[in-house]
Amino acid sequence: MADSNKNVLINATCWANSYSTYALQESSTAFKTFSIAFSQENLRGQNPAENFLASSYMRRNDRARDFSISSYFGDTGMQMLQLIDEEDAIAKNLFPLSEGVPLTMEIGEVMIQRRSIRHYTGDPMEFDYLSSLIRAAAGITATNQMALSQGGSLETTLRTVASGGGLYPVKLYVVACSVNGLEPGIYRFASKKDALIQVDDASGVESFFNCYSAAPGIISTDKASAVLLLIGHPWRSMRKYGNKGLRFVFQEAGAMTQNIHLAATSLGLGSVDCASFYDEEIHDLLQMDGINQFFLHAIFIGMPG
Ligand SMILES: Cc1cc2nc3c(=O)[nH]c(=O)nc-3n(C[C@H](O)[C@H](O)[C@H](O)COP(=O)(O)O)c2cc1C
Repeated sequence: MADSNKNVLINATCWANSYSTYALQESSTAFKTFSIAFSQENLRGQNPAENFLASSYMRRNDRARDFSISSYFGDTGMQMLQLIDEEDAIAKNLFPLSEGVPLTMEIGEVMIQRRSIRHYTGDPMEFDYLSSLIRAAAGITATNQMALSQGGSLETTLRTVASGGGLYPVKLYVVACSVNGLEPGIYRFASKKDALIQVDDASGVESFFNCYSAAPGIISTDKASAVLLLIGHPWRSMRKYGNKGLRFVFQEAGAMTQNIHLAATSLGLGSVDCASFYDEEIHDLLQMDGINQFFLHAIFIGMPG
């Protein structure tokens, strides 16, 4: 756009959006780049991201925090841990994962080989491959016996990825576009069942791609085999750790994401992170309020093109 046209547009925007008397100052307009917004908010100490960070610091002598955390080490807290994901116990229409394909590439090699792959052939992915990817991100790999104070013990489950307090606040969803052995649709992974639960059909897949915000062509979205979605349940961690629990949610999503990429690399699949989705539209589609359950991240998977 020519500079003169840009100025006309900026003037018009300032005029139309001004909260205060028309003036060509950055403080007078609602049209603010991130850097302008940051500089103004910081002056007033009102930057929400920085306020969040400061509010998440662990500080000495914080008795409320100590109490919140210690309550999880009693028998009731342990019983609660055992109940994580038990809501899936009554789920119907389960699609059990298959045996999966072993991840045989040497770990050092797989780390070196991992690269973002954005273009795919459009060939379908086998359900066995999807099963391996899902287990790499959120599969249960062991159980743990926890002793109760009154005697006896409880069994909790452990996964491929570490989790603050074993609370597992990130759930894995699958948008199946082209997977041999699985109808197109949106599914939620039930770790304890080692199975998928269908939450939407092929029309949901189409709606999902309508939430994509990037220019077409950057990622060959129409040729992807599947998209793995990470959905945060922050209250699971924040109830115990306060605002710092939200940091754990992000950290754990990163660990799950890396496991997915490494597994994809080992299996010869292409994968790429994709932040480019309109969050609220995904919340509407998946019937989430965006606070207690929110869209964290998406990872495209396809046969490398
Ligand atoms: C949090 C996050 C979000 C990303 N979002 C996108 C995206 O929306 N679109 C895209 O094409 N790549 C996206 N990427 C991939 C990066 O562009 C890529 O990782 C980076 O260029 C380094 O390349 P490499 O992954 O091949 O090493 C994202 C990566 C991360 C970690």
